[in-house]
Amino acid sequence: MQYNFSNRFKNLKPSPAGDILAMMGDPTLIKFSGGNPATDSFPIDKITEFSNEVLTTKPLSVLEYGLTEGYHPLLQEAKKFLNRDGNVVRDDDMMICTSGSQQIADCLAKVVCNEGDTVLTEDPSFLGVLDSIRSNGANLVGVKMEDDGIDLSDLEEKLQIKPTPKFIYVIPNFQNPTGITMSLEKRKAVYELCKKYGVLILEDNPYGQLRFSGEAVPPIKSFDEEGIVIYAASFSKIIAPGIRVACAVGKPEIIGAIKQVKFLNDVHSTTWSQVICERILATCDMDAQIEKLKEIYGAKNKVMQDEMAKNFHPSVKYTKPEGGMFVWVTLPDGVDMMKFVGEALENKVALVPGTAFLADTSMPCQSFRMNFSTPSTEDIIKGIEILGKLTYKYCK
Ligand SMILES: Cc1ncc(COP(=O)(O)O)c(C=O)c1O
Repeated sequence: MQYNFSNRFKNLKPSPAGDILAMMGDPTLIKFSGGNPATDSFPIDKITEFSNEVLTTKPLSVLEYGLTEGYHPLLQEAKKFLNRDGNVVRDDDMMICTSGSQQIADCLAKVVCNEGDTVLTEDPSFLGVLDSIRSNGANLVGVKMEDDGIDLSDLEEKLQIKPTPKFIYVIPNFQNPTGITMSLEKRKAVYELCKKYGVLILEDNPYGQLRFSGEAVPPIKSFDEEGIVIYAASFSKIIAPGIRVACAVGKPEIIGAIKQVKFLNDVHSTTWSQVICERILATCDMDAQIEKLKEIYGAKNKVMQDEMAKNFHPSVKYTKPEGGMFVWVTLPDGVDMMKFVGEALENKVALVPGTAFLADTSMPCQSFRMNFSTPSTEDIIKGIEILGKLTYKYCK
């Protein structure tokens, strides 16, 4: 059969990370290429206990169809939880539960983008969401990044593209893939500039709770008086990604439209997951759960940073995240990054080439992403030693 795929599908180029992901099953590989939370943080006992409870006492409540906007007790608990970080969910906001935060980007693109519309993004950014925006026919335009977040003059220039971009996608906390956190000044400036040019902001915050050093910075959503911010929260990184529970927050007109598209996507998110998530938020010590995550990630990040400082050639630059799961490593000009990543893989260390995260994946890139939440401490030490030797081979 000759399958006749749509242009939208055909435009999705295979990710350069594909080869690496294909090797993920190899047990001898040191995987700095993952993006998963540390599995030892999952509250498995609680998930088992609450699953047994609900399936024993009221099975039909989770086995029947549910509401597209989500299970109301979960939405109430999630509102309380999100507002620990500031005024994220206002009384005149609407909040819905989605199947992961990835679905929010997909639905938003479907709601606001026509074929060929522009969407701005931090460059580099999370490839899952970038692909989702591309698959909806929009053109991605990247905005340069600096050590404290997006480059404001580049942003202002790109906000003036005609026709006006439909939205900008930002990850202000411990960005995937760079680990960079946007400063408070920049968050305010991004908000003001987007307000000035009438551009929506998709603020994706899956890592915000995972701060192991420095001071928390309020979300852009907390100073949104105009209804231009769509806030995406996720429980993937603080409970478990397999439950696929996330929340979209914003003004009812836009969140209502997202809900309509979500209905066509999957009718509603799995009720079982929402009930489990609600039980965990309502009855478990979330501070202790988050503290446990911060301890695990903070310790692993420290080992990775210390080992990079000891082993890497001095011309190699890398970010120093205050939270999250990722470090962005940049090789000096003239070094062939793809060759470096290829040789690392031959030496059993998997990295993700930075090109995968660019708005325009045909652009040159000197960087690669490393994850520190999944590998063991021993693997971090061993893997960085291997990479260190390679940096001395490649960098003069
Ligand atoms: C920045 C970012 N946004 C969204 C997601 C998707 O998360 P979810 O599991 O909530 O769909 C990820 C997953 O790694 C991510 O890194």
